[in-house]
Amino acid sequence: MDRKVVHIKVDKISKSFKNDEGRIEVLKHVSLEIYKGEFLTFFGPNGCGKSTLVNILAGIEEAGDGEITFPETNGKPKIGFVFQNYRDSLMPWLNVEKNICFPLKLKGITKSEQKERLKTLISEFEINIDLKSKVYNLSGGQAQMVSILRGLIVNPEILIMDEPFSALDYQTNLMLYEELLKIWRKLKITVILISHEIDEAIYLGDRVAFLSKKPASIFKVLNSDLPRPRKLEDMGSQEFAELKKKALEIFRNTAT
Ligand SMILES: Nc1ncnc2c1ncn2[C@@H]1O[C@H](COP(=O)(O)OP(=O)(O)OP(=O)(O)O)[C@@H](O)[C@H]1O
Ligand SMILES: [Mg+2]
Repeated sequence: MDRKVVHIKVDKISKSFKNDEGRIEVLKHVSLEIYKGEFLTFFGPNGCGKSTLVNILAGIEEAGDGEITFPETNGKPKIGFVFQNYRDSLMPWLNVEKNICFPLKLKGITKSEQKERLKTLISEFEINIDLKSKVYNLSGGQAQMVSILRGLIVNPEILIMDEPFSALDYQTNLMLYEELLKIWRKLKITVILISHEIDEAIYLGDRVAFLSKKPASIFKVLNSDLPRPRKLEDMGSQEFAELKKKALEIFRNTAT
């Protein structure tokens, strides 16, 4: 990975919302350069504005102030998005195939091309899920995999994932970490993932960006420079323990 190519430049993003008490400032001068092909994880206190930030990155929400630019890309790159609550974001009346292809349908892509794209995607990752099944019949892990595939069906250059693993059990998470890292290695895309598990943020990320409490800004960026490809056992290594110690120290300081 060439770490020097800036894929996304986040420049002094601020955002506030109106609520019953007036205005609440959620983000204040968030600035960060995200590199092409890197796996960046965000970590921060509950409710500090993580979802708001990635929604702005994806263009789902507008920034109040500041600018997001893509210096190396002509126009805006294609972005895939995996929402925080996968159960709520999947459509229960549609089967797996239709859920995954939904973003293509929105773009007006023909049914036969949708099927073709899905076939390619599925074959690339040896996914073993019944495409005709309704999503409520799936396990949590399978349902989350469907949301990830829905994010990938648009052939994104950037995949943004908002706490994709927070509602799943530990064993399922470990399995999905491996799947996600495989996907990332193969597609060589930029991945941005919000996590609320420090082990997960370190294990998956090349860098962990810590947000401060609300109004959030980037408090610190930790290089998670464990060698790749990583294995689950790496979470038990001395190197990992040292990174985790640093991360916990940073996190403690974000709350003060
Ligand atoms: N559309 C909105 N209108 C008003 N307030 C909002 C809106 N969206 C978010 N907020 C407020 O902004 C703050 C940050 O919310 P956000 O969901 O971005 O945080 P978060 O870090 O993702 O939280 P969590 O850890 O629960 O996922 C919260 O106080 C939330 O209530
Ligand atoms: Mg959130």
